[in-house]
Amino acid sequence: MADIPSQLRAITRNSFTSNADREFAVAEARALLSRIESPWETAYRQSWIEPARMASLEITNKLDIWKKWAAAGGSPKSIEELSKLVTCDHTLLSRVIWQLAGAHMLEVVRPGVFGLTPFTAALAEGPQIPSTVSLYIDMQGPALRSLPSFVQSTGFQNPTDHVNGLFRYWTGKTVWDWLKANPETEKVVGTVMQTYAMNRPSLSDIYPTGELINSIQDDTAVLVDCGGSIGHDLTSFAKVHGKDLKPGSLILQDQPVVIEEAGDLDPTIKKMDHDFFTPQPIKGATAYYMHFVLHDWPDSDCKRILENLKLGMRKGYSKLLLHEVVLDPNDPKEIGNSADIVMMMASGMERTAAQWTALLESTGFKINRIYNKELAAESVIEAELV
Ligand SMILES: C[S@@+](CC[C@H](N)C(=O)[O-])C[C@H]1O[C@@H](n2cnc3c(N)ncnc32)[C@H](O)[C@@H]1O
Repeated sequence: MADIPSQLRAITRNSFTSNADREFAVAEARALLSRIESPWETAYRQSWIEPARMASLEITNKLDIWKKWAAAGGSPKSIEELSKLVTCDHTLLSRVIWQLAGAHMLEVVRPGVFGLTPFTAALAEGPQIPSTVSLYIDMQGPALRSLPSFVQSTGFQNPTDHVNGLFRYWTGKTVWDWLKANPETEKVVGTVMQTYAMNRPSLSDIYPTGELINSIQDDTAVLVDCGGSIGHDLTSFAKVHGKDLKPGSLILQDQPVVIEEAGDLDPTIKKMDHDFFTPQPIKGATAYYMHFVLHDWPDSDCKRILENLKLGMRKGYSKLLLHEVVLDPNDPKEIGNSADIVMMMASGMERTAAQWTALLESTGFKINRIYNKELAAESVIEAELV
């Protein structure tokens, strides 16, 4: 094959006719790297390059260099020019910037002059992408580093106890109590969930929400978002269907501290403090929606959440919509199956279709259909009371 490196270099984000084609190519490029790297190259990438890149990124976030760079016009800069933007030892700054350039986070536009890439430009645009780095540094990284010794300490049992799980082993507290004690990280988690929602298919992208709107029978709530965080999913739902909805017909439920963080939302959205381990107070809504909620919990807690939710549902009318990863045991995927290991932080799990079916059937639900969108790891499971 003629000059493979030049052919690979010629491929850019604009080389694809659709986003789906681009996503397929990303998956192929990752697989390609695994095929062509030697074992040592893979080892070096994962144990040196990737941790160093995350540390460098968090240093630059703390320096707020990206916003300052963008405010200064965002054009390519030398280390000398960058050092005028921030208060940082010159040698330290150059080591961090060189590492990020070497790791393709910055472009070397000419010798010693660095330009922003789409990723580093996104770090300047708001808290969304930087929050993913902080989440890794403050919570996911240290928690997952304790995972191997935690499971060893349990005799290699599958983690299913959210009270005495990895988080208690690492911090002495459950994940939810630890977050309450670390409000800055709790805020980061809310921002990460919002970022996730902004970058992945929404409920309306996957599920025929128009049909849901057409099925509204009376004046009850239309969509109750249980554990809806700061309201990003209902906000995007309101963008699509708000004109057909009465004020307050979308209900955002979460813990009080999270609801307070949600701020002002669209008039169709009503905010409500609600603990989903207590009976659902909104009766007979058209649909109850949970996005990335049940994956945080082991089956025993999911059953308690679903039993409490059922108390609000009207048989033959209310739908349960679970927006979750559905794992394919015959074709594991980098994204969904990595999320499954991350969920061990809370003794939760991503589930296969068979595991979702067993969980729902054990609590008196039947699955009507599982909706998917192209390569997306997430599906929407529509279920109702038997
Ligand atoms: C992984 S986040 C998912 C947030 C949102 N649905 C999304 O997909 O972006 C889980 C949510 O469950 C909420 N939560 C945890 N325990 C809860 C409880 N007992 N009652 C209500 N919400 C709870 C958290 O505050 C958080 O917003």
